[in-house]
Amino acid sequence: MRKAKMKGIILAGGTATRLFPLTHTTSKQLLPVYDKQMIFYPLNTLVKAGIKEILIIIAPRDAGQFLNLLGPIFDRHEVRLEFKVQSAPRGLAEAFILGENFIDSDNVTMILGDNIFEDDFSDVIKNFKSGGYVFAKKVPDPERYGVVKFDESGKAVQIVEKPKDWISDFAIPGLYVFDNRVISAAKESRPSDRGEIEITDLMNFYLEKGELQVSQVKGDWLDAGTFDTLLEASQIVKEKNISKNFDPQVQEAILEFNEEQKALAKKQLQ
Ligand code: TTP
Repeated sequence: MRKAKMKGIILAGGTATRLFPLTHTTSKQLLPVYDKQMIFYPLNTLVKAGIKEILIIIAPRDAGQFLNLLGPIFDRHEVRLEFKVQSAPRGLAEAFILGENFIDSDNVTMILGDNIFEDDFSDVIKNFKSGGYVFAKKVPDPERYGVVKFDESGKAVQIVEKPKDWISDFAIPGLYVFDNRVISAAKESRPSDRGEIEITDLMNFYLEKGELQVSQVKGDWLDAGTFDTLLEASQIVKEKNISKNFDPQVQEAILEFNEEQKALAKKQLQ
């Protein structure tokens, strides 16, 4: 049997209502975070971890803009991008249903298009064999996130989406590594009271089997979905040189694209 590869998905659809009116004219994931469009940060996280095949899930309205920016960007590099439109934001877990053909018989790492990480996840992603692997980060406002509770030995024992009653301070950031069974688990999951199919149901699928690993994110993690976190993200990226330390392939691809666009703009002026 062929060894399963690791594929990547960036979930970059959604309606981004918390960023209206900015997102009335463009996608949240195309807004700037310091000197790059937001989408480059999750893209870099995946490429840095050695992932070469990446599916970007986008909202219908923004498809043209995403293609303009990313369509040709890796033409001279090993990374392959595919795009898929999500007709309506039906929940994070839908990524694995929309991505079924793309994932094929492989494993998959899914990252949210508005999540910015300082850490390098190469070790976890390159050494992943089976089950599920997610992360945890202590936050002051866990009720906004999927939350994980640990027992005294540090083992994950409970996962709840946006808990109304406190269970733990550990939020689960938007980076999830799953084996191929995630496709059937997503297809079997039913919408929650808020009408979305929930990624926490997929984590619970693995937790109940004793096959979910959780480790803590050490560096900064930002979910740039509000005005304040969008601003904070730019400040942290600048302070910590995050966009200057992108994977060389991403760095070069952006540079080449910029040079081409500049040359084209000059030509049009002549
Ligand atoms: P959210 O921030 O939960 O949703 P949103 O981006 O629509 O914003 P708001 O709450 O302000 O209306 O989504 C997290 C990420 O996942 C974000 O990058 C958008 C993406 N997403 C999808 O692509 N499809 C979906 O069905 C959902 C729910 C989110």
